[in-house]
Amino acid sequence: MASNKENSGASFTLTDNRNGKSYELPVISGSTGPDVIDIRKLYAETGCFTYDPGFTSTGSCQSDITFIDGDEGVLLHRGYAIDKLAEHSDFMEVCYLLLYGELPTAEQKEKFVSSITYHTMLHEQINYFFRGFRRDSHPMAVMVGVVGALSAFYHDSLDINDPQARMIASYRMIAKMPTIATSAYKYSLGQPFIYPRNDLTFSENFLHMMFATPCEPYKVNPVLARAMDRILILHADHEQNASTSTVRLAGSSGANPFACIAAGIASLWGPAHGGANEAVLNMLEEIGDKKNIPEFIKKAKDKDDPFRLMGFGHRVYKNYDPRATVMQKTCHEVLDELGIKNEPLLDLAMELEKIALEDDYFVQKKLYPNVDFYSGIIFRAMGIPTTMFTVLFAVARTVGWVAQWNEMIEDPMQKIGRPRQLYTGETQRRYIPLHKRGSKSQG
Ligand code: SDX
Repeated sequence: MASNKENSGASFTLTDNRNGKSYELPVISGSTGPDVIDIRKLYAETGCFTYDPGFTSTGSCQSDITFIDGDEGVLLHRGYAIDKLAEHSDFMEVCYLLLYGELPTAEQKEKFVSSITYHTMLHEQINYFFRGFRRDSHPMAVMVGVVGALSAFYHDSLDINDPQARMIASYRMIAKMPTIATSAYKYSLGQPFIYPRNDLTFSENFLHMMFATPCEPYKVNPVLARAMDRILILHADHEQNASTSTVRLAGSSGANPFACIAAGIASLWGPAHGGANEAVLNMLEEIGDKKNIPEFIKKAKDKDDPFRLMGFGHRVYKNYDPRATVMQKTCHEVLDELGIKNEPLLDLAMELEKIALEDDYFVQKKLYPNVDFYSGIIFRAMGIPTTMFTVLFAVARTVGWVAQWNEMIEDPMQKIGRPRQLYTGETQRRYIPLHKRGSKSQG
């Protein structure tokens, strides 16, 4: 549960120059990062809403889970820096940390990993859901459908106000996402689904279920498994991003967690969010050659051109995304392990990054590579198809979604999310019967 911060004693004085009235708005301080102005009483006292499309300056909740310092390029999970977790921890340990707030003891970790392992298998009937899709469906569409359908299997045995029931649902989702994801991939190939193995780690199991077939033994490459584990850590959670906010908003109505996670997957799919890793690869392939970079940089800077440099920019980071740093290092490790020399897409990406970071437009707007810029190159080198990149992001982010969902349910200040608006439409007008309306189109 988010530790309830008291008012800092400071306040903002708001003066309405339409009537000269002044209002005191309390300021609340967190443990670090920007203070917040508590506007919960604003509408009742002033008759005004705040206005913040895209929530660029709006805090939606209190949270103890993740903190980003965008100016310094720092990302903390329960106080631990992402680069240290990526170097020294593993994904299961980070899952435990996000869910429970502390790094596990050896005994706690063993028990947690065992619980997750024994939830990786799907109810056999769930496998029939895949068959309703075309083989060429985008796997994210399959993920939204199948994860949402988990509600049909569990929603009636889930009291979201029972911490134990919530944790079982959380474990189920973390554990089953790789199985659902790889089944979506196998279905697209027309290959049989591969069952999870209890003797493999989470990341080894993912690669095994992706690439094994019943026809011959499949040996997981330990270097790739370690790289996959690190990539999962880098994508695990990230404050109140669009998909996490979607999960929280859906959960605020009391919807079951499977439906909430399906909503999160749908939001993550967008190219401005988790879909960017797939969009980066498509962009690099469209650029094709270093000589074309200036043309694409020009397009990215052109206000009249909707083209954006995918994998660049971030709402919070106005410095290098610390995850991108680890991702680039991992990219070189994976390519070296696979004996891939001079990978043209990596060379192109690094040249694009170099040129962009020397360009005033990107420097002025503080646009740096984000987590999605290099991840696709690693996935492609591992033999993972582009359409599966965002699916991988969803597999990793599920722990962040469920951790934030649990925190929201436990928050005593939690209530259904219901934003207001600035209305700019027609004011009330008289209904005109059909026979009295003019011939001109109303459109
Ligand atoms: C993720 O929120 C999270 O934490 C997300 C995430 C997570 O882990 O959950 O970190 C994962 O989604 C990473 C972001 C992946 N998306 C992309 O790489 C897509 C490309 N990036 C942009 O679409 C954009 O940078 C966003 C969506 C990421 C952020 O957009 P904002 O915060 O709304 O910023 P903005 O669009 O207002 O941009 C500010 C300015 C604008 O110019 P002006 O209108 O001020 O003149 O910068 C420009 C933008 O046009 N700009 C870009 C750009 N990103 C911003 N111009 C060219 N290329 C870009 N990539």
